[in-house]
Amino acid sequence: MAVGSFAGSIADSHMAVRNYIVPTDLSLDDLRSIFALTDEIIKDCQKFQDVCKSKVMASLFFEPSTRTKFSFDAAMYRLGGNVIGFADPNTTSQAKGESLADTTRIISGYADLITVRSPYEGAAKHMSMYSSVPIINAGDGGHEHPTQTLTDLMAIRHYKQTLDGHVIGICGDLKFGRTIHSLISALSRYPNNKFVFISPPELQLPDYVAHNIDQSMILRQTDSLINEIGNVDILYMSRVQKERFVSEAEYLRLRDYYILNAEKMKRAKKDMVVMHPLPRLNEISAEVDSDERAIYFEQARYGMYVRMALIMNLLDLG
Ligand code: CP
Repeated sequence: MAVGSFAGSIADSHMAVRNYIVPTDLSLDDLRSIFALTDEIIKDCQKFQDVCKSKVMASLFFEPSTRTKFSFDAAMYRLGGNVIGFADPNTTSQAKGESLADTTRIISGYADLITVRSPYEGAAKHMSMYSSVPIINAGDGGHEHPTQTLTDLMAIRHYKQTLDGHVIGICGDLKFGRTIHSLISALSRYPNNKFVFISPPELQLPDYVAHNIDQSMILRQTDSLINEIGNVDILYMSRVQKERFVSEAEYLRLRDYYILNAEKMKRAKKDMVVMHPLPRLNEISAEVDSDERAIYFEQARYGMYVRMALIMNLLDLG
């Protein structure tokens, strides 16, 4: 009888689980609530210090991370919860060959939600099929990174006041840049946004992203940053994703294709903003950091607060 109840409670909780795997897993209403809650948290973070008391987040990062991992962990601690995880995936039974499905089944019995970063596209979605608690995609290969998008949208909302009506230049590695894929998906849901895709021919946006948005939102696809920098309201720079390349020589050939510097910034609008999900390598010169239009470090600061709001939303605590 007791075993039956236990099994029943797992099945019931599985049915009610809400995941965040791709940007469209949150409705526009959800997003409005999360952004409003983030504003409240920023105003008085301490007010939320016990919201997740006794809750546990499993933090499974199978790829390196500074911003996403630290901000998620800090978010859970600031909500009064706890975090379990590993510094090295080789210390888990994945190293003995346990499947991701079985690992997920087990960990979802110990934690109230799971954040996962994986080198494999679709890993978070796969895990969501075996988890009894919410799965948050903290980056799956070159596919999606929807919580970076929450950070990006908060920054745009703050610095440009609105999420609609912008010309957004997206520059760099559009092929493998998962933050870019998620950002395009998210911004295409708001009216009157237009995109200029700026990349080398080898690193153009995949069709599965480009074809998924209203085609009238795509102004141009080009390889020229210098010709476009004066036309955009938001310039979203990105790193060439070394870890996704098969050929090191090809990476070395493409990695410095774009270098945004003070000279190029002279051509940009006075109220244009430069964003970057970070880490930044050579694609933005350090001399740009002191330009008031460079908001990438402030952008990253939203990460912890908006992830606090996301955790509360998925756990129905907000
Ligand atoms: N923007 C981002 O995902 O950074 P990390 O890889 O450091 O988490």
